[in-house]
Amino acid sequence: MKLDIFSLFPEAFDWFRTQRSVTNAIAEGNQLRLINYRDTTPLGAGQVDDAPYGGGAGMVLRVDVVDAALRAAYADGERPRTVLLTPTGRLLADELADELTREPHVALLCGRYEGFDERVHEHLADDEVSIGRYVLAGGELPAMVVADVLMRKLPGALGHEESAVEESFSRLLEGMPEYPHYTRPAAYRGWQVPDVLVSGDHERVRRWRLEQSRARAEQFERDAE
Ligand code: 6GU
Repeated sequence: MKLDIFSLFPEAFDWFRTQRSVTNAIAEGNQLRLINYRDTTPLGAGQVDDAPYGGGAGMVLRVDVVDAALRAAYADGERPRTVLLTPTGRLLADELADELTREPHVALLCGRYEGFDERVHEHLADDEVSIGRYVLAGGELPAMVVADVLMRKLPGALGHEESAVEESFSRLLEGMPEYPHYTRPAAYRGWQVPDVLVSGDHERVRRWRLEQSRARAEQFERDAE
């Protein structure tokens, strides 16, 4: 997969790019590109935003600036699946992440200030994604969340092939949360690891984990009510 992230603050991704799942994904031939809208702005003095028509607080990312960045990145070539990060977008969940991971090329567009000129939504984007029903200062943290969930689903991104497959909310766990994990010591301050996990009986372990996932799923449902 090629993943392009458009942002006014590409340096915000410096730490993210060093994460093992990201470096692994890149070593496997995937690409992560960061693009600054400011580098291709058609306006003077690096301007990218403007005051909203009709008045009101804040600044709005201009449609000509976003369009220029996309044209510079893709010229007349094929456009990637273009996703805006906005607080009112489709809520990110495992199914949406799976859908995006199947795309060969994805562009994530981060907004700042009051967001994008509406014409970006209408004419330049294919999708809008939100990571929750609250408002953040910009799209950079949500883009990292989306990029993280996409990258770790790519083959070879995780150390163990299975890790992403049998993970919370994945299809293999029937969309349920993951079972609890334990490691050494087997007893700590009187807190014991469940006997079944040290029994060496793989079939019992498998059944216990499924039961635990089911119990957590039921709790999850009750909490959501
Ligand atoms: Cl994608 N952007 C912003 N600014 N705030 C958010 C969000 C996105 N998702 C939840 N809150």
